[in-house]
Amino acid sequence: MKPHETLRPVWWNDAVAPAGALEMIDQTRLPTETVTNTCRTLDSVWQAIKQLQVRGAPAIGVAAAYGVIVGLDEVPPTDATWLAVLAKVCDHLATSRPTAVNLFWALGRMREKGKSLGAIPWSTARTTLLKEAHAIRDEDAAMCRAIGNHGQHLIEDHSGVLTHCNAGALATSEYGTALAVMYAAHERGRRFRVFADETRPLLQGSRLTVWELQRAGIDATLICDNMAAVVMREKMVRVVITGADRIAANGDAANKIGTYGVAVLAHAHGVKFYVAAPSTTFDLTIPDGSHIPIEERQPDEVRSLGGRQTAPADISVFNPAFDVTPARLITGIITERGIISPVTAENVQKVLAK
Ligand code: MRU
Repeated sequence: MKPHETLRPVWWNDAVAPAGALEMIDQTRLPTETVTNTCRTLDSVWQAIKQLQVRGAPAIGVAAAYGVIVGLDEVPPTDATWLAVLAKVCDHLATSRPTAVNLFWALGRMREKGKSLGAIPWSTARTTLLKEAHAIRDEDAAMCRAIGNHGQHLIEDHSGVLTHCNAGALATSEYGTALAVMYAAHERGRRFRVFADETRPLLQGSRLTVWELQRAGIDATLICDNMAAVVMREKMVRVVITGADRIAANGDAANKIGTYGVAVLAHAHGVKFYVAAPSTTFDLTIPDGSHIPIEERQPDEVRSLGGRQTAPADISVFNPAFDVTPARLITGIITERGIISPVTAENVQKVLAK
């Protein structure tokens, strides 16, 4: 197995007594330490999502699906109460982060599976719910592979690619979305150089993306976020590929803060800008990106870097974790069902219906 194929950030470990537990790579410790975090309580799952120990839209969804089992196991319900407890656990996990729609999608699927079971004993329901969480994980892995296959031709031999944040294996069940395209091109023997924005304030680009790419043997170069314009002007990249946290019906796409700026720069320099995301990242209930809830995070994330204070302690801070790139700036959206291009509401419908 190739190194990137062994990278799985979140899984269920049956061997943890008494009935198994959710485990994940604690991504706040990368790249210097690879530490496993075992979640045995609902609160520990909630905290892991909130604090970005597990992060990236699809990975959050997978963690939440397994988190439902953890929450139900914490105080095992009776045959009469498990369905009500399931609803409460899902409601609570849904408050952990607001932007990535995969979280709500996965919780919705667990809820619906529970409802479809009706009045059956808790032990039987648990087996089915755990199976459903495994299915969510496995289906995500398959979608990521398909995204890679659909998008790989967009990376030309001896070209440059730019990415923002981390949309790799670490952000999904495995393989990634934006990075899946790169892994698939690399597997086909193409040589290219990836420029990764470091992605302030929490540095997913420098802590996670270049670590992942290096591990896979892909030529990766780290840049500060404010260097992307020069890289484009000097024609060092031909294409930008990022992930997404929620895509509206018209194709407007929310992703890590700074993505919108990269899209504007790409447009100004005639560089193609692609978003790679599975169908589970689309929210067809909202017409456009203005309806996407944007998470605002703690001011200290901006006032400090690597635990060191870098600004006056009481300076006012604006810290949105995501921004929305309008569909008109997106060349195409690479999904597991094909590429949506040009990005219009009609084409979103058409490709997702495949
Ligand atoms: O705050 P994060 O690290 O969860 O933000 C992650 C991103 O913005 C990713 O680009 C996105 O979730 C796509 S993951 C395949």
